[in-house]
Amino acid sequence: MLDLTGKNALVTGIANNRSIAWGIAQQLHKAGANLGVTYLPDEKGRFEKKVAELVEPLQPTLFLPCDVQNEAQIQATFEAIREKWGRLDCLIHCLAFASKESLSGDFSSVSRQDFTQAIEISAYSLISLSRAAKPLMTEGGSIVTLTYLGGVRVIPNYNTMGIAKAALEMNVRYLASELGPQQVRVNGISAGPIRTLASSAVGGILDMIHHVETVAPLRRTVTQGEVGNTAAFLCSDLASGITGQILYVDAGYEIMGM
Ligand SMILES: NC(=O)c1ccc[n+]([C@@H]2O[C@H](COP(=O)([O-])OP(=O)(O)OC[C@H]3O[C@@H](n4cnc5c(N)ncnc54)[C@H](O)[C@@H]3O)[C@@H](O)[C@H]2O)c1
Repeated sequence: MLDLTGKNALVTGIANNRSIAWGIAQQLHKAGANLGVTYLPDEKGRFEKKVAELVEPLQPTLFLPCDVQNEAQIQATFEAIREKWGRLDCLIHCLAFASKESLSGDFSSVSRQDFTQAIEISAYSLISLSRAAKPLMTEGGSIVTLTYLGGVRVIPNYNTMGIAKAALEMNVRYLASELGPQQVRVNGISAGPIRTLASSAVGGILDMIHHVETVAPLRRTVTQGEVGNTAAFLCSDLASGITGQILYVDAGYEIMGM
């Protein structure tokens, strides 16, 4: 039933085989989507090589550098989509960044610069990517981003990233309202804690996972594949009536009071 054949999907945020975006890319590919993949360029080209090798079996028809702090790279990414595909159907926004210093210690100790950087990369980027995607989503579309419970409740050490996720979740609602009339849906997945490159920067991530395994109704945390399945569902016509929502894929942890 879940068929993405004929749909063009851009996946951002793959760093390695632990990335949630990698789990999503695999499920989109399985459902038949035509994939484009972006990576974060660095001076030594490390991510480029690693990500290129990883995604090779999924045969992406576009593979591009895209640092969301670089407006020219965003423009070039969507220009390449326009030239090669003509139309975009699904956009996966699966990236975030906050300095290590802003992910531990006193919440109030964050510097102006670190705060601004976290908001720019982790929340503003959904706006800039959606703005670039908008004219290419000519037959409707689906935009999916990744968020975490730390954007609505206080989670130890999540600190600045919690503020970025709160902004991101509100972006989802405003973008859903703006893009709805052209049948573009915008939703967020609030995933349970998973060990990845980004999450290992959050102090005490292993304790968080262990706590979820003890308390969540399913007595475990979730996998990249489970998040990927939900993203594929949200990209599909099966989710045609869903927009502006935050879906919890967290083994039920969010409902628990104690
Ligand atoms: N891992 C978890 O426990 C968890 C839980 C809920 C939500 N999330 C969210 O999932 C998303 C993916 O994170 P992940 O856990 O898979 O970690 P990850 O480290 O695999 O992915 C983070 C990605 O962000 C990219 N990135 C950082 N700065 C960038 C920039 N300036 N431009 C472009 N890309 C940039 C990195 O290259 C990397 O691919 C993030 O939004 C994260 O907050 C993660």
